[in-house]
Amino acid sequence: MKGRFSVTAFPLFPLNLFLPFILFLIPIILYTTVCMSLPSLDEYIGKISIVSSIEQVEAVRHELFGRKAGVMTLAMKDLAEKSPEERRTKGQELNVLKVKLEALISARLQAIATLSIDTLAEGDSLDVTLDLPVAEKGHKHPIHEYIRKAEEVFGRMGFDTASGPELETEDYNFNKLNIPESHPARDLQDTFWVSSLDRTVLRTHTSPMQIRYMEEKKPPFRMICAGKVYRKDSDATHSPMFHQIEGLMIGKTVSLANMKAVMETAVRELVDPNVDFRWRTGYFPFVEPGLEMDLRWRGDESKSREGRWLEVVGCGMVHPQVLRNVGIDPNEFQGFAFGFGVERMLMIRHQIPDLRSFFEGDLRFLRQF
Ligand code: DAH
Repeated sequence: MKGRFSVTAFPLFPLNLFLPFILFLIPIILYTTVCMSLPSLDEYIGKISIVSSIEQVEAVRHELFGRKAGVMTLAMKDLAEKSPEERRTKGQELNVLKVKLEALISARLQAIATLSIDTLAEGDSLDVTLDLPVAEKGHKHPIHEYIRKAEEVFGRMGFDTASGPELETEDYNFNKLNIPESHPARDLQDTFWVSSLDRTVLRTHTSPMQIRYMEEKKPPFRMICAGKVYRKDSDATHSPMFHQIEGLMIGKTVSLANMKAVMETAVRELVDPNVDFRWRTGYFPFVEPGLEMDLRWRGDESKSREGRWLEVVGCGMVHPQVLRNVGIDPNEFQGFAFGFGVERMLMIRHQIPDLRSFFEGDLRFLRQF
């Protein structure tokens, strides 16, 4: 059954009748819109003068001169449709208008810029009463401070300061120091060999500087040399890189008694005036006799991981063969040499249980010095 109202029951809207008329109207509507919205100078003078930010000025500029729908742009395009006469007069008018509007826009931009500098001067003035943020103040690493102090202490006892390479030849690091091929110090376990071809190592001790110094200078002399040394070792009292201070005193009558006096003065000044120490004999191929000096842990002994005593210095009378190796006659000259472990002296001085703390870069640790 059919519905009461059928769609076909209504006559169709006669679109086909109106279409040509609508198409005819569109250009007219467009034209009048453009013409009616032809910029009036007053309207835009008003607009430009009230905007207060660069963004707003730019928005008005876009409204006027935008490439697609700018009011001025459309008006210019529209000239093409005009008669030559009209094009000339209208064109001139538009040009005058364009120049005026552009001048207004740049004047407004200038005014806004000046205004913002002025407000900045008022609002952002310098308050000289304000406290500056606290500047962080650093200091030298405790190891370096300590080496400077040692140079000063030994300097007062007449010792010169020398320095030498960390990359050493096997010759200086071992051979000339009378360290035989079979010596355990040469073991791959201990030494960082850099090149097996030209037999270079990261120096395992500062003792090669004895040789370098003696090859250069004529005795008598006293010298110390501080620096980094390297060994494959790591625990509470060892680190793969650590510091030593080497010392050497050669003369005609320099004795073991002189050595002990110098060592004891140094540890009293550099560790503590009341530090307990003990002497032991020790073996080092480049001295004869050889001695070791241990310092006693200060404070709470349970905190020392090494026990009560810590070996801090190796020393002795320079072996005659070492003197011969550098062209010094052992019948004419003699003397002593020593090597301090810098970190170990600091450990005793400040009761630091683990030597590796010096190299962990923890500022809470370093700031204590
Ligand atoms: N070079 C030795 C080492 O690193 C320490 C040493 C011992 C240095 C005796 C010396 C010395 O000058 O005479 O273990």
